[in-house]
Amino acid sequence: MSQELEGKVALVTGGSRGLGRAIALGFAQAGADLVIASRKLPACEGVAKEIEALGRKVLARACHVGRLEELEPLLDATYERFGRLDILVNNAGINPAALPLTEATSELFDKLYAVNVKGPLFLASGAARRMAGGGGGVIINVITQGVFKPGPNLGIYCSSKAALLNLTNVMAQEWGPLGVRVNALAPGPFMTDMMRNAEQIPGFVEQIRNSNVMKRIAEPSEIVGSALFLASEASGFMTGQTVVVDGGILP
Ligand SMILES: NC(=O)c1ccc[n+]([C@@H]2O[C@H](COP(=O)([O-])OP(=O)(O)OC[C@H]3O[C@@H](n4cnc5c(N)ncnc54)[C@H](OP(=O)(O)O)[C@@H]3O)[C@@H](O)[C@H]2O)c1
Repeated sequence: MSQELEGKVALVTGGSRGLGRAIALGFAQAGADLVIASRKLPACEGVAKEIEALGRKVLARACHVGRLEELEPLLDATYERFGRLDILVNNAGINPAALPLTEATSELFDKLYAVNVKGPLFLASGAARRMAGGGGGVIINVITQGVFKPGPNLGIYCSSKAALLNLTNVMAQEWGPLGVRVNALAPGPFMTDMMRNAEQIPGFVEQIRNSNVMKRIAEPSEIVGSALFLASEASGFMTGQTVVVDGGILP
């Protein structure tokens, strides 16, 4: 896969840290130029420096994906800088509170669905329209293995990602004729800030480790191979599918 993405331009939301940063660096190593977007510009600029050091071109851009009015300007900035977009990774996602359904609020629901569903849907729609005019492209929607095995306290988070999976299937059907492939990437447990935030819950990390065949929590770099596969021509006949990277979650 060394130069598999040579000449391609990839936009990674939530590219400033965690899985998004790992995917962005992996794509740069594979030859792509990058757009790094998240809410905090300085953090995006930090990753941009790492990408430049790899010899690739990069645009760092602040964007809150839950604010729909910020999505088209992000795409405009991408086309102004690079004139094209080949790969969109809808990676930005949040799970700010682990609560049973009876304690969840309407505000929490709206916040989660804005960032995890609405933003990715409308960013993908805008990207697909533009990709169609440029000969096609690839969209990767980052969901979670929890879509297939939702657990207590994660109901709203898992259901938001289930909605994105459902939309992934429709995107694949509607945009296939436009030359746009759309697949989902479903991580299991990875050691990022999202996981670290839950570390203080007694027994949580131990429970997560024991939830999979590999008995561990993965490093962010371990998502890169699957993301590269979905972004490249290696998966050229795949659309509407889900790649699960979860260490073998036990039943
Ligand atoms: N880590 C896991 O074990 C795991 C498991 C399953 C699925 N996932 C999914 O994988 C994706 C990445 O997760 P992660 O673990 O890498 O998370 P993370 O470490 O918390 O990083 C989240 C990234 O998204 C950005 N972000 C957060 N809210 C945003 C918003 N409203 N608009 C734009 N960017 C935003 C953050 O940057 P700013 O703070 O600068 O905005 C950051 O770059 C998420 O969709 C998550 O649901 C993760």
